[in-house]
Amino acid sequence: MKKISGRKISQKIIEIIANKNKKLSIAALYAGNDPSMLSYIKSKKKRSINAGIELIIVNMPENVEAEDFYKKLRELNNDNGINGIIVEKPLPSQLDIRTVAGIIDHKKDIDCLSYSNNGRLISDEFIIAPSTAMAVINILKYENIEIKGKHIVIIGRSEIVGKPLLLLLTSKKLNNHATVTLCHSRTEKLEKYTKNADIIVAAIGKANFLKNTYIGENKPILIDVGINYDNGKICGDIDPECYERSSFYTPVPGGVGPVTVATLFENLIKLNEKYD
Ligand SMILES: NC(=O)c1ccc[n+]([C@@H]2O[C@H](COP(=O)([O-])OP(=O)(O)OC[C@H]3O[C@@H](n4cnc5c(N)ncnc54)[C@H](OP(=O)(O)O)[C@@H]3O)[C@@H](O)[C@H]2O)c1
Repeated sequence: MKKISGRKISQKIIEIIANKNKKLSIAALYAGNDPSMLSYIKSKKKRSINAGIELIIVNMPENVEAEDFYKKLRELNNDNGINGIIVEKPLPSQLDIRTVAGIIDHKKDIDCLSYSNNGRLISDEFIIAPSTAMAVINILKYENIEIKGKHIVIIGRSEIVGKPLLLLLTSKKLNNHATVTLCHSRTEKLEKYTKNADIIVAAIGKANFLKNTYIGENKPILIDVGINYDNGKICGDIDPECYERSSFYTPVPGGVGPVTVATLFENLIKLNEKYD
């Protein structure tokens, strides 16, 4: 079994971005002060400096009026000094992610929230994809892991991970051609699918959910998207007891997370190259 270093892959992507010397800016807009959101913003800030990208924090109070938040988002859309916008989650209850997705300028939408950027994914004519889903592709690519012809089981069907990843893994444009099984909480006998997988991607949001009993004898590749806390300690969706039954695995922390941030910056470059 080989541990995949997401940090190393992230550094390589960030080096390529820094070498482009584009001098671009991202606005990270958020309301409130959720601790996991703040720690994610901190990690983006640190890596943005290495990538030569300016990350501008736009913080509004937790109880901001919805109209004021959306007005700020429109201002960022119209600000020529801002090349990319991230609306950080979780949003407080008075704000609606669908409204945000409808307002954000698709040319600056580096997190791929807008309907226009997501629609392009379905028709396989995408410019960018949600960064976490594309981070999984980046990991497989950087590790020279063949996707074509493989049976890949994704656990989790969210809009930001499972669903877009299904499209990316079957993308003709990317020459991926995997056969994908998309599982979720209503999937019956989950192990029937996972035990026959060449690659398992866990994006569930449940600490150490996947146990040894879900893993076949064929040494699958394990990609763990989950970021959970178990007794205050960060952990993934895949129990580390599974690692020895795998050929490759991504740890948590230090796996998909850092690659997601680098992929977000890659999205900024792609949108800028398309629309500038
Ligand atoms: N590494 C990163 O950069 C990164 C980025 C984003 C998210 N994450 C992490 O990834 C995890 C998933 O995030 P998300 O936003 O995709 O979560 P989400 O929207 O809550 O989706 C979770 C998915 O898991 C499925 N699920 C829940 N319990 C299950 C079970 N017992 N068996 C099978 N499937 C089950 C759900 O099924 P239903 O649809 O039936 O409810 C749902 O499709 C979280 O830990 C999150 O923190 C990490």
